[in-house]
Amino acid sequence: MLTNLAQQPADALLALIKLHNADPRANKIDLGVGVYRTEEGATPVFAAIKAAEAKLVQQQDSKAYLGPEGDMGFVTALMPYVFGAANPTMDGRIEGMQAPGGTGALRLAFAVAKRAGVKRYWMGTPSWPNHAQILADLGLELKTFNHATKAGTVDMPALRAAIAEAGEGDAILLHGCCHNPTGIDYTPADWDEIAALVAAKKLLPILDLAYQGLGKGMEEDAYGLRRVLAAVPEALVAYSCDKNFGLYRDRVGAFYLMLADPAGLGAAMSNAHALARASWSQPPDHGAAAVRLILADAGLTAQWLAELDTMRERMRQVRAKLGAAGKAGTADLSPMGSQNGLFSITPLTPEQVLAIREKHGIYMAGSGRINVAGLTMANIDQFIAAVADVTG
Ligand code: LMR
Repeated sequence: MLTNLAQQPADALLALIKLHNADPRANKIDLGVGVYRTEEGATPVFAAIKAAEAKLVQQQDSKAYLGPEGDMGFVTALMPYVFGAANPTMDGRIEGMQAPGGTGALRLAFAVAKRAGVKRYWMGTPSWPNHAQILADLGLELKTFNHATKAGTVDMPALRAAIAEAGEGDAILLHGCCHNPTGIDYTPADWDEIAALVAAKKLLPILDLAYQGLGKGMEEDAYGLRRVLAAVPEALVAYSCDKNFGLYRDRVGAFYLMLADPAGLGAAMSNAHALARASWSQPPDHGAAAVRLILADAGLTAQWLAELDTMRERMRQVRAKLGAAGKAGTADLSPMGSQNGLFSITPLTPEQVLAIREKHGIYMAGSGRINVAGLTMANIDQFIAAVADVTG
């Protein structure tokens, strides 16, 4: 039976890591998978994480199981950052659990919504390819709408039309900030409108917050999520610490569920616990424990936030330079200057993406997405010239 299994294509984005590693050219540029890079092109462990890990080695006296919910100290410590320090549980209406990365949290959110009877999921496209993959793997129906216009703004008319067409009880997936892959985020005014529309249509919002702090700031990047949660009775949140704590391979995420009445939280969350138990059983501990230690220590928290500020500022400078470049060949780079987070979409065709890789050693996703953190003041002119060459 097993020999009948058909060959599956490798995940295109993850395959790019290997292709880039195998390229012997000294001036190659990796703009593929979404990891932050320094001006030197490195993805170092945060100093705050290193310090927390040292503490963890000293303090941890057992590695016995914690249960499907993982490290609840970590889950609770994150809540003021996600939901606001003034009312981090929304009057006791939110409960969470740890999940293996943002992907684990998303899978749990989609599966919990399915158990609750959600039949259709709405999502703006393009989106992170794994969103559709997880939904397909769970056998869920996906309806899409256009996320962004050619002019580089959010396509609010498409979103309004999708919500008008959606039925009560459908779920809608919304990127909280730093839209992956476009970098084109909703404005606060857009979020105000979205919150009202989602509430009026009685949709279940699923908020994916994977890049908090990498857009405009920790508070600013949570605006939309908080606005939507304030407007609706129920919501699900998938949170990732992979980027804003640099914990990628340690797989650190959290899943939160909000209900109108806190009395039902125990029963609702027991479904998430059961689904986790039947899938990964219990999440990996190490990274979440390190985050908990950072958030429990004012000095380490300040250090972490300063490191995050440095990352955001570096990306802002790269974006400013891209934006100022204007046109490279026929590709207009100027909208990238005002976009957010790690990603932007170039107008390169799949053929041009291949050409820029083969001719110039520049690796980007087939969709034309670039990880702007792969650009530095030393290689950005090379990138702009290469874009001009393949599009000109
Ligand atoms: C990305 O989009 O590059 C990241 O979210 C990494 C991933 O797992 O795809």
